[in-house]
Amino acid sequence: MYTLQNFDLDIFLRDYWQKKPMLIKQGFQLFEDPLDEHELAGLALEDNIDSRVISRDKQNWQVSHGPFNDINQHCVGAWSLLVQKVDQFIPQADELMRTFSFIPYWRMTDLMVSFSNTDAGVGAHIDQYDVFIIQGKGSRRWQVGLPAEYGESLPHPELRQINSFSPVIDEILSAGDIIYIPPHHPHNGIALEDCMNYSVGFRAPSEQEMLTSFADYALEHNLFNQRYKDKSITPRAYPGEIKQQELSHFKHLLSSTLTSSSFEQWLGKYLSETNRLSNNEVEEDEHYSEEEIVGLLADGVYFLREPGIKPIFIESQATDNTDFIFYIESQSFAVPLKGRDFVLNFLNSPAYSTELVETPKSCLFFTQLLTKLVNSGFWLPE
Ligand code: SIN
Ligand code: CO
Repeated sequence: MYTLQNFDLDIFLRDYWQKKPMLIKQGFQLFEDPLDEHELAGLALEDNIDSRVISRDKQNWQVSHGPFNDINQHCVGAWSLLVQKVDQFIPQADELMRTFSFIPYWRMTDLMVSFSNTDAGVGAHIDQYDVFIIQGKGSRRWQVGLPAEYGESLPHPELRQINSFSPVIDEILSAGDIIYIPPHHPHNGIALEDCMNYSVGFRAPSEQEMLTSFADYALEHNLFNQRYKDKSITPRAYPGEIKQQELSHFKHLLSSTLTSSSFEQWLGKYLSETNRLSNNEVEEDEHYSEEEIVGLLADGVYFLREPGIKPIFIESQATDNTDFIFYIESQSFAVPLKGRDFVLNFLNSPAYSTELVETPKSCLFFTQLLTKLVNSGFWLPE
């Protein structure tokens, strides 16, 4: 169980989030690593897991990608093993990441875990995204600077580093310390001994990425087929001229796509997509029937939320009287509005059983929902 301490959320959100870096000494007291380097190396053997070893032997930088059959051959000199999306595989890593859910799920990406030996680091660099870096076992010197134009170097085609920066934070972190780094702030972590680090990463989609995804969604669902019309076209001096009124008409045609209900559906799907690596979807011919789920519920079986599952939904408006809709991994789920609070409690709990919370009699829809969630591999009966 991880509890954030020595941390004032209001001050953090007001003065630091997206604004300036922050060191949280002993954010986790008596910190226990959710996994060790051997388990991390075990994950890097799997071919559906994204892992890298970055090593530096004198000034020779190397980057090798997993899956690794023999990881030792890549671990030369000072090296770090970095594994993405560990929150999807290790329940305690998922729990650690959720400590930061004062920032909503749809802003989070994954928990990247690294192990470094003495002197190792990925070099001074700049990221586009906010990150909380938690120091696990061992100690590491972390330096963080302010945004500026920095000279870049590429000691390896996959490593974009910066030459130097003046740190505004320069501290040795030990287990349980946390550093928050906003986007575009240069940083550098150098291990002083064997150490583990946990990076809670956030997403910040660009206009370009969103437009591309929204256009793909429109094509896939055959949406927005209205065409430009001009029954009241007027004469003009130059045939090439687009009148201001016509420009407004084009803008209106496109902006109406953004105010449509399809936009909300796309956004829910888009922001719930984590490109999940761990996939426990139940094969079609082995799907649980609703009767089977009813039977398991009656037996008090526990249904466990899979690590990494973070359902999201759009705040309802006072005028809404439609279903309660939520999204997981680009799938949408709908339940009657009267079940909203019960379902939200369920979604926010790592485990559900009728032994813990009784299913209200009026919640007939719940067994249907649970059946879908189980067959999609998002909840599993224990
Ligand atoms: C690491 O854990 O070594 C890398 C974290 C980072 O600086 O992005
Ligand atoms: Co970084």
